[in-house]
Amino acid sequence: MGVGVFNPRPTGFCAPRPSADEGDDAIAAIETKARDDLAIRDRRVADRVQKFPESVIREMTRIAALHGAVNLAQGYPDFEPPPEVTEAAKRALDGGYNQYSITWGARELRDAIARRAKAFNGIDADPEANLVVTCGSTEAMMAAMLSLINEGDEAVIFEPFYENYGPDAIVSGARPRYVRMAWPDWGIDEEQLKAAFTDRTKVVILNTPNNPTGKIFTRDELRVVADLCADHDVVAVTDEIYEHIVFEGAKHVSLATVGDMAERTITINGLSKTYSATGWRVGWAIAPRTLASAMRRTHDFLTVGAPHPLQIATVAALNLPESYYRELARAYQQKRDAFVRGLQAAGLDCRLPAGAYYVMADFSAFPFPDDWAFAMYLVERLRVAVVPGSSFYGNPKDGQRFVRFMFSKKDETLREAVSRVQGLRDVR
Ligand SMILES: Cc1ncc(COP(=O)(O)O)c(C=O)c1O
Repeated sequence: MGVGVFNPRPTGFCAPRPSADEGDDAIAAIETKARDDLAIRDRRVADRVQKFPESVIREMTRIAALHGAVNLAQGYPDFEPPPEVTEAAKRALDGGYNQYSITWGARELRDAIARRAKAFNGIDADPEANLVVTCGSTEAMMAAMLSLINEGDEAVIFEPFYENYGPDAIVSGARPRYVRMAWPDWGIDEEQLKAAFTDRTKVVILNTPNNPTGKIFTRDELRVVADLCADHDVVAVTDEIYEHIVFEGAKHVSLATVGDMAERTITINGLSKTYSATGWRVGWAIAPRTLASAMRRTHDFLTVGAPHPLQIATVAALNLPESYYRELARAYQQKRDAFVRGLQAAGLDCRLPAGAYYVMADFSAFPFPDDWAFAMYLVERLRVAVVPGSSFYGNPKDGQRFVRFMFSKKDETLREAVSRVQGLRDVR
């Protein structure tokens, strides 16, 4: 079955990081090919938009719908947020919250975020000075980058990385420098990390628990990052949106609580994942006073503000009891265990992720030339949508033997997906 509306060629981002064994000519060829693949052939389009593709993750959602596939590509649940939270939204819509809020966030919400950040993360945040409420953590990340980066500054990014960080770097003018988290345990080579920090490094982007690997950064790893930030006067921007989805009693550590990092860390979070409400578009950043001021300006002129009634309902979410978070982690751990076992039974090489709700799978035991061919086979023939691994790497070739599955779905949806994936047994 053909798709007809999508050209499944690996694109990756411009300025890919070449493998060590590639020479200058090969690198130039990769860059030229990436540029050709991405070109929108209209000279009115700005150069910066020519450098990144539409989101592959969100494209796979559209392809999933075309094929009636179980969508394990884009990270969102097929179950509802807690009823206390949706009820609070209904009340807010009825009760006087239908106009703009203060641009950097309704005071009630900033108070609730500050309380929660203190209680759970150990972060001190003054709601008047350190908080910016945004349209999802997606906007928080872009607003942070636009507020920090001058053209040509470097951004250290752990790789494989959540797809958005590539365009975040490009749009803000940063040059990405990737540091590899190595399959299969996603460990970091300290020497490689040190070498990535230079005189031009302005920010390091860190995501823990991590999408797509499930890695949870340990306090020791964070200490190394903190020392490098201090030595090179670098700001850390940490995306902690999966902080409550951690398994086997693992503890999430916020980088802002390591040493003096509070004065040089922007901690990003949001409603989407912890409260299963990705469509609400409520996120936030906690930042040192001056950086929060800069972000407020950027944020104001990007979006003015996040939806006011949903900000108010987010207060109800942040006030849920501790048992809610325990149950969330327990339920996801159960999904993870059954789902990963099912993928392994189908012959895929994958490990239990430590956190978040994704699993990277190495399919190289199967005869497919690359991740796109494998992903298209899965979606067209077996009707399960995943994300090709190349979209998480600077150089698409480095992700060519992986695809990413996600398991934020009802148990019955995951069982159906696992049963469809068993069709791979006929392929070998
Ligand atoms: C690491 C990470 N950060 C941010 C987001 C998007 O979050 P939001 O819905 O708050 O914009 C996602 C969504 O998949 C994600 O995986």
